[in-house]
Amino acid sequence: MANIQFHVQPGGKIQGRVRVPGDKSISHRSIMLGSIAEGTTTVTGFLEGADALATLNAFRDMGVQIEGPVNGQVTVHGVGLKGLKKPEKPLDMGNSGTSTRLLAGIIAGQDFDVTLIGDASLSKRPMKRVVDPLSAMGAVIETQEGGTLPMVIRGSGEPLKAIDYVLPMASAQVKSCVLLAGLYADGKTCALEPAPTRDHTERMLNGFGYEVHSEKVDAQQTRACLQGGGKLTGMHIDVPSDISSAAFFMVAAAISEGSDLVIEHVGMNPTRTGVIDILKLMGADLTLENFHEVGGEPVADVHIKYAPLKGIEIPEELVALAIDEFPVLFVAASAAQGKTVLTGAEELRVKESDRIQVMADALLAVGIDAQPTPDGMIINGGVQCVQRSAIQSHHDHRISMAMSIAGLRAVDTIVIDDCANVNTSFPTFLPLINQVGMVISAVEA
Ligand code: S3P
Repeated sequence: MANIQFHVQPGGKIQGRVRVPGDKSISHRSIMLGSIAEGTTTVTGFLEGADALATLNAFRDMGVQIEGPVNGQVTVHGVGLKGLKKPEKPLDMGNSGTSTRLLAGIIAGQDFDVTLIGDASLSKRPMKRVVDPLSAMGAVIETQEGGTLPMVIRGSGEPLKAIDYVLPMASAQVKSCVLLAGLYADGKTCALEPAPTRDHTERMLNGFGYEVHSEKVDAQQTRACLQGGGKLTGMHIDVPSDISSAAFFMVAAAISEGSDLVIEHVGMNPTRTGVIDILKLMGADLTLENFHEVGGEPVADVHIKYAPLKGIEIPEELVALAIDEFPVLFVAASAAQGKTVLTGAEELRVKESDRIQVMADALLAVGIDAQPTPDGMIINGGVQCVQRSAIQSHHDHRISMAMSIAGLRAVDTIVIDDCANVNTSFPTFLPLINQVGMVISAVEA
């Protein structure tokens, strides 16, 4: 594949109004739940990025008729819980962990075999975390040594065994996998999470008329349960803008003098808003306007202006609520005066790349004092970025975009290698970030 480099002009300020594309997590789930529902599901605001399209194509390959996407509109003709068909070839999950882990839960309940494959980054990521609970439910799954893709899920058509699963890590993908498999289980399946993670699966299942009961066990732990063997009914889903994509624009405005930006219609699900809390703790001038609800999800406009940031100790209870935003939060910390310390975030090491090591390397390459630790990072911020060596994105879209934002505090042009991957979650990143004041060009190297 061609190496698309981003060349980022240094400096600038961020101004105007912008609307970023639809939420990735909700887009995936709209196709999955729409496919196994009875009746038609219509979706607006669907994210037309490679990850969500991998999910869409997988369900087409399993016989579901899906129209679109055209301008974010998709129509899914649901086949019911039992209506999926054996695909003729392995399902290609591309770069997408969410597609793989959630689909594994659904496929475990089918009466046919499916092989899941992925790209170089996904093929290194741990799948044992879903194989363990699914095997406990009676599914037969083969992975490579080390628990990686390709993975074969052998469906017997026998109902799975319901379990009460205690998640060993805070992961919405694992929780969702267990709950989706639970649709095909005999009895009541529960997933107990050690800390709150995004709850879109629970909310959306309820929206599709499938009751999920969530109960707080203590301040951190929640148990979500459902009974197997029910049915989902098709619905309309209006996907809000992705707060994880909006985060790049929030940090851009927060770190560049003279900035004043409104990001419209951003999803404000409380299990996703850690980035806002962390930026506010750092001193960002950020307000939420025009709060309303769209199809069971809170939405607001984010108004953010430049204000000097200060380093902080990031509270551990915010980690799972901002898990995808750390690459760009590290850039905010690099611009902030003083020391920022992140702990309790070892999950960052098993994302699309090892986001602790890769971001520490990238920040060092632009002259920032960033020290990786086993479960986080220590950053001494407040200096300008100077490019000392090439920046590598390591097949990770959020590294490409985060390091682009660092250009706002640079004195040199920043060059980032291998940036075609922004297409996985945010295909319009470049035109939108350029529209509000940055100057980034994509160059084929
Ligand atoms: C997601 C869950 C998170 C997140 C990912 C999307 C989801 O992963 O990082 O981008 O849609 O459920 P983990 O469950 O691995 O934390």
